[in-house]
Amino acid sequence: MTVELGSHGLVELLMNIAIFGLGYVGAVTAGCLTRQGHRVIGVDAQESKVRALQDGRSPIVEAGLEELLSASLAEGRLEATLDAAQAVAAADLSLVCVGTPALASGRLNLEAVRHVSSQIRDALRQQPRKHTLVYRCRCCLAALVK
Ligand SMILES: NC(=O)c1ccc[n+]([C@@H]2O[C@H](COP(=O)([O-])OP(=O)(O)OC[C@H]3O[C@@H](n4cnc5c(N)ncnc54)[C@H](O)[C@@H]3O)[C@@H](O)[C@H]2O)c1
Repeated sequence: MTVELGSHGLVELLMNIAIFGLGYVGAVTAGCLTRQGHRVIGVDAQESKVRALQDGRSPIVEAGLEELLSASLAEGRLEATLDAAQAVAAADLSLVCVGTPALASGRLNLEAVRHVSSQIRDALRQQPRKHTLVYRCRCCLAALVK
């Protein structure tokens, strides 16, 4: 985390943020947060989405996003990796934005949320420290901890 004086004269708190899931929610969030000056390290299970971010391309179709991501990459505020532990080690905050598709039963498939949550837990056990975890995906935390 860094503290900087913004162009409007106010103090800005800039964070290092890991974003898990580079789909519609994660990629747009990465673009918006890096535009505000935060540093983002994106993580996805799909190599093609990680490569897209590393090249400053948008992994999804969204007007204006590629311009935001390529500018952030050029300014050193955007990275991407397949390695969850590397992302957690570099971040103060993790945002979980992985998919939660509906099952035939109508319930949500929380497999990806559980998987990523365990990866973050394991990474923090390796290097214990304060870390904020935010779920930006559709899920019920009670179902997750069952
Ligand atoms: N897109 C929307 O407008 C919208 C609106 C409201 C809520 N949501 C919720 O937000 C969440 C994300 O939605 P989305 O539209 O961005 O989904 P998406 O399918 O576009 O993206 C999900 C991403 O998660 C990645 N992923 C899956 N398993 C992973 C794993 N184990 N590790 C790392 N990455 C993994 C996928 O490869 C994919 O890139 C869902 O819970 C959805 O219900 C989305």
